[in-house]
Amino acid sequence: MADAVVVGGGLIGLATAWRLATDGAQVTICDPTPGAQTSNVAAGMLAPVTEVEFGEDDLLALNLASVNAWPAFAAELEQLTGQPAGLHQTGTLSVAYDVDDVAVLRRVAEYQRRLGLEVEELSGRDARRREPLLATGVSGGVWVPGDHSVDNRQAVATLLRAAELSGVQIVRQHVTRITTSGTTATGVLLDNGDTVHADYVIAATGPWSSQLAGLPEELRPPVRPVKGEVLRLRVPEAYRPALQHTVRATARGFSVYLVPRAGGELVVGATSSELGYDTRVLAGGVFNLLRDARTVLPITDELEFVESIAGLRPATPDNAPILGPSGLDRLLWATGHYRNGVLLTPVTAQVLAETVRTGTLPDLAKPFLVSRFGH
Ligand code: GLY
Repeated sequence: MADAVVVGGGLIGLATAWRLATDGAQVTICDPTPGAQTSNVAAGMLAPVTEVEFGEDDLLALNLASVNAWPAFAAELEQLTGQPAGLHQTGTLSVAYDVDDVAVLRRVAEYQRRLGLEVEELSGRDARRREPLLATGVSGGVWVPGDHSVDNRQAVATLLRAAELSGVQIVRQHVTRITTSGTTATGVLLDNGDTVHADYVIAATGPWSSQLAGLPEELRPPVRPVKGEVLRLRVPEAYRPALQHTVRATARGFSVYLVPRAGGELVVGATSSELGYDTRVLAGGVFNLLRDARTVLPITDELEFVESIAGLRPATPDNAPILGPSGLDRLLWATGHYRNGVLLTPVTAQVLAETVRTGTLPDLAKPFLVSRFGH
């Protein structure tokens, strides 16, 4: 088995490193602060159905493969580490507030059904039967049994432990650049001047992928940062569980999601703005999220405000990830996961490990080569 260096210790990088190591590879992962960026901010929804977009069929197939892989992936991690992987198979309730919101919800549900996805349309009253603390103004819903959530922070901690237990060397250094010999990647140069040599370099560099140094200009992937602000609230004992399922809502034309965690946390997300690498939380973002959350869940006002945080989604021109060969021999991409990083973690790790093991990208991943962008 070839050895590998993984650049970037978010969920994608950690899972890929761990999977390569369990396949028998010698693996090094380089990140000054593993798990501290987007993977720490995410709400962790596994939402192939509720986040489906018109015309993204290849991405839907990959998303469904990954949501189906999550239970075995989580079980394997938990068995190895004795720690929770954070998977909560609760299903998702999509709700709509006013009549225009209901019209949007019904149109999306029709599309979801046409794709063969499992959705059940509900009246406002039936939606409130599933989640009694929803506002009386909620006027329609769709029950989606196959969309779940993952406590992203638990998943990071458990993957870090699993990687260590599986012999992955974790180097807490920034990668300055990829090293090459001719047109082949040979390893990475670190901030402290050390180099790590490897048969394969895997770039799990998320929103910073286009800035990875050492690549010819024409091989830089078209990945850009899209900021998302997220809130974490705490539900007092008297109201627990405020929600039993992930709730996505369209409220007066705005979208919000509320993701309950075991232990009383409620994650509210997320804004979306293109401001480069700026991760400041803006007052307007917090205001909008709270406004929309309290429209559909009035007890939001009674919850403790614990945290506001912003992260950067790694977006691509077609919203789908970039997986596998890069145009530089032995450099593989595992990036561009945009809104689906937590969801796509198991399948990405599997695809990259298989590519290193066999030298061939699995068929499922072929639509996601960077070459689709003319690279
Ligand atoms: N997948 C949720 C988000 O990106 O906000």
